[in-house]
Amino acid sequence: MSKEQWTAIDNYFADLFMPEDAVLTQALKDSEEAGLDPIAVAPNQGKLLYILAQLNNSKRILEIGTLGGYSTIWMAKALPEGGKVITLEIDQKCADIAQKNIERAGLQDKVEIRIGSALEIMREMSETGEAPFDFVFIDADKENNPGYFEYSMKLAQKGTLIIADNVIRKGGVIDPNSTDTSVQGVRKFNELVAAEPRVTTTVVQTVGAKGHDGLGIVLVTSD
Ligand code: SAH
Ligand code: DHB
Ligand code: MG
Repeated sequence: MSKEQWTAIDNYFADLFMPEDAVLTQALKDSEEAGLDPIAVAPNQGKLLYILAQLNNSKRILEIGTLGGYSTIWMAKALPEGGKVITLEIDQKCADIAQKNIERAGLQDKVEIRIGSALEIMREMSETGEAPFDFVFIDADKENNPGYFEYSMKLAQKGTLIIADNVIRKGGVIDPNSTDTSVQGVRKFNELVAAEPRVTTTVVQTVGAKGHDGLGIVLVTSD
């Protein structure tokens, strides 16, 4: 099967289960027009984040990698009154576009964008006693995934769900000699997760509009 067919199947299900949401569609359109990379999660993946966040009764969500705020909006929609997504983004231009998209969605009270190096911000959060998060979505530069996992654990508690995007990289993940630094980042991430006794984990391969990749699903089982 080709990526074209996978995309057609993604579209078939998007039409059935994620019918036109003007705010989300416009968020993607504005991101594209501003020249942002077209690497937001696919609609069915956004919906998965939305379902998982609700299943987990998430009130505090941490996102690493905002881009134009597409996945941010999906997760913020899952929050109850008073809930919060804190989303970390290094690029001011992305953050500006995301802020507009979030405001258009009427979710500005539920989302806070923090601008800077995600690793630095997470270090600061863990040092200043930031309240724990119920849900973490890791989706920024894959090279830093090992650090993102380590700091996520510091900012987690029992029951926190950590989801990591792009842990398969077209299958590159199984090549220990890969010269692709993002492959090395996800390999190190996978090894750290596997060695961490406080979590239980699975990875699902995905194909679709985003090609062949995968989602890491890590549940924190003890404090
Ligand atoms: N989660 C988004 C997609 C994020 S794309 C969605 O699905 O809609 C990855 C984002 O991570 C980009 O916007 C990029 O600027 C940001 N990023 C890359 N390196 C970063 C870093 N070191 N700290 C914070 N953000 C970073
Ligand atoms: C890339 C990054 C992503 O977060 C993604 O979902 C797809 C691709 C990338 O950097 O190529
Ligand atoms: Mg991604």
